[in-house]
Amino acid sequence: MIRSIVITGASSGIGAALSAEAARPGVTLLLIGRNEERLEAAAEAARAKGAAAETAKIDLRDAATLHARLLDFDDRAPVDLLVANAGVARGGLPEPEGQARFVIETNLLGMIATVEPLMPRMIARGAGRIALVSSIAAIRPSADLPSYSAAKAGVRAYGQAIRSGLRARGVSVTVVCPGFVTTPMSAQHHGPKPFEVSAGRAARLILRAAEKRRGALTFPFLFSAMIFMGNRLPPVLSDWFERRYAARIGEE
Ligand SMILES: NC(=O)c1ccc[n+]([C@@H]2O[C@H](COP(=O)([O-])OP(=O)(O)OC[C@H]3O[C@@H](n4cnc5c(N)ncnc54)[C@H](OP(=O)(O)O)[C@@H]3O)[C@@H](O)[C@H]2O)c1
Repeated sequence: MIRSIVITGASSGIGAALSAEAARPGVTLLLIGRNEERLEAAAEAARAKGAAAETAKIDLRDAATLHARLLDFDDRAPVDLLVANAGVARGGLPEPEGQARFVIETNLLGMIATVEPLMPRMIARGAGRIALVSSIAAIRPSADLPSYSAAKAGVRAYGQAIRSGLRARGVSVTVVCPGFVTTPMSAQHHGPKPFEVSAGRAARLILRAAEKRRGALTFPFLFSAMIFMGNRLPPVLSDWFERRYAARIGEE
């Protein structure tokens, strides 16, 4: 029974949809993000569905504050499910100075910093579920998003690395690789977005996979199949296809 849930990046997009989908009587949510107003709106929507919800305005790059808040919540409501979802997307070639560090600190180190405090607690309890939101860009790196793709590949590798050892100790890890999902992040992607799905659908797929303790979830199916085939092509051909899907990332 999943009663206590932590969601990072709950103030927007997939994270807010996860909160709305998971909210029901008997469930306690800790919603983490940076924008207080949007976090509170997500919490209010969850309360309206009968859940208990608290918010924490924390930048994932502040590992000490994040660590303390997660342990404080876990003391009161031992965490059954952690969805490490928060992330940023920045593009460009070359990338502006400092951008790659920012993206990797947020998307990779920030995600690991979210998992680390709770992992020993879950192991000690012999119970728990962790879902790490990576990206299809981890499987087929995107030419438009170099450091983002590298960070997401790191998240996927980290999740795959911890998965087998944790499973043996009662804790499941689901590595999630979404394709395009309609959110404020994907609105910054100006170019083709094949098989884009809604944030609600993404949230339902993620929650179901975590509940069933699936080791991996890649969606939507047709886009994953395309990526799978593309990865079997020689680089000269796969790079040619990549250029067909070129996009610009950022404000219009
Ligand atoms: N949308 C897609 O097409 C797509 C595809 C593949 C993977 N993903 C992944 O799915 C996840 C959610 O993305 P989304 O599309 O829902 O994007 P989004 O609408 O932009 O939401 C991103 C969330 O991450 C939070 N966040 C960003 N940096 C943070 C930081 N330093 N500390 C704390 N929270 C931070 C944001 O908080 P604030 O708004 O409060 O700052 C926001 O709640 C990301 O990891 C993304 O890479 C998305």
